Amino acid sequence: MQPDCPQTDVDLWDDAILIDPYETYVELRELAPVLWMSRHDAYAVTRYEGVKEVLQDWRTFTSAQGVGMMPEMNSKHGGILTTDPPDHDALRAVLNTQLVAGQLAPHHDFLVGEAESLVADLVERGSFEVVGELARAYSVKVVSDLVGFPEEGRDRFIERGDAAFNTFGPDSEQMGEHVDGLRQLLTYCEAVTSRDKLTSGAWGDQILDAGERGDVRRGDCMGLLLAYAWAGMDTTVNGISAAMRLFAEHPDQWTTLAHDRSLLSSAISEVLRIEPPVHRFTRSVTADTELDGVKIPAGARVVVLFGAANRDPRRYEDPDRFDIRRNPTTHLSFGRGVHRCVGASLAQQEITAVLNALLDRVERIEMLDHRWRRNNALHGLEHLRVTVEQR
Ligand code: HEM
Repeated sequence: MQPDCPQTDVDLWDDAILIDPYETYVELRELAPVLWMSRHDAYAVTRYEGVKEVLQDWRTFTSAQGVGMMPEMNSKHGGILTTDPPDHDALRAVLNTQLVAGQLAPHHDFLVGEAESLVADLVERGSFEVVGELARAYSVKVVSDLVGFPEEGRDRFIERGDAAFNTFGPDSEQMGEHVDGLRQLLTYCEAVTSRDKLTSGAWGDQILDAGERGDVRRGDCMGLLLAYAWAGMDTTVNGISAAMRLFAEHPDQWTTLAHDRSLLSSAISEVLRIEPPVHRFTRSVTADTELDGVKIPAGARVVVLFGAANRDPRRYEDPDRFDIRRNPTTHLSFGRGVHRCVGASLAQQEITAVLNALLDRVERIEMLDHRWRRNNALHGLEHLRVTVEQR
């Protein structure tokens, strides 16, 4: 493939860049809107408008040939994320009956109650580890209960989900371990795709109903359960952890929010804009096309950089500044187009419930230490210890 655009030999999956990608994003974004990555035989889309355009045009930029970097893995992933319309529509319709905002109303008290009791205990202790004790504990409990997953195996969701997200990256020495984690997640989901394993009446059980009615193929039910176990936890964990870190680093913004809770929705959009839980997925080009003046041939792989797009100064003024009044509802952290995150409302309600519970009790958050996690597709913390000053 002969590239017809500026090139870079940056390795986007280098450990240091995965952990702290923002300087590299500035460099790539300023170099060009579309770049040929010579190390990866793929194009990178670096600016807001280009990323939006790719996500909105599933016919030219298909997900059906996978959204990762390795052809062997792309042919294995399967499921809603890698299915385009028309097959995508039936899968999406099943998840929509559970996840669109209106359908979540009956679960509001559950989401709030879980956040309240977890946060009350942690705040009482004065110091805690946010990622494990708050974000993971909450997201895994909430999604698992809503889907009706059995208790056994829940403690492995995060570790296996992390491995599964890693399989979207290029080949590496660790890929064998990642594939193993994905396999374990698949085996688990296969084993629980059964009436006697899932809570009666919960979302997982409803997915089996949809299979029996013929709304989706029976074979698709496992993939829909997998969508919850894979896409529905780690992402929100990153969102909650990012919020805590940002408010610890910007105590003035926490105080502003505490005085005016009507800013909460804007604040959550700003957290997700400046620190997107998902940083990169790919698409495959179905026909020769042009993006931002760059010719891209059919068959090419295109890497969509959510994290770079959300900090594009052409779209957001002073993009590295965390400002809860900004209300950037246009951010791309939930994607765009047919694959836009179906769990976005649930994720926003989860983050809202946790932050409200904290705002009720916490005057100030202080960060003691933190560590980033290395992941090929996600960006988030592995560890974040804080102390909190009670109101
Ligand atoms: C802050 C939290 C979350 C973020 C940032 C996030 C991000 C994303 C993104 C960027 C996509 C689009 C992928 C693409 O275009 O290829 C996506 C799709 C998806 N998300 Fe989320 N997600 C979050 C939470 C959730 C939750 C809570 C669930 C379910 C409980 C969920 C389930 C899904 C599913 C099933 C898809 C595939 C949709 C489709 O292909 O039609 N996500 N998510």
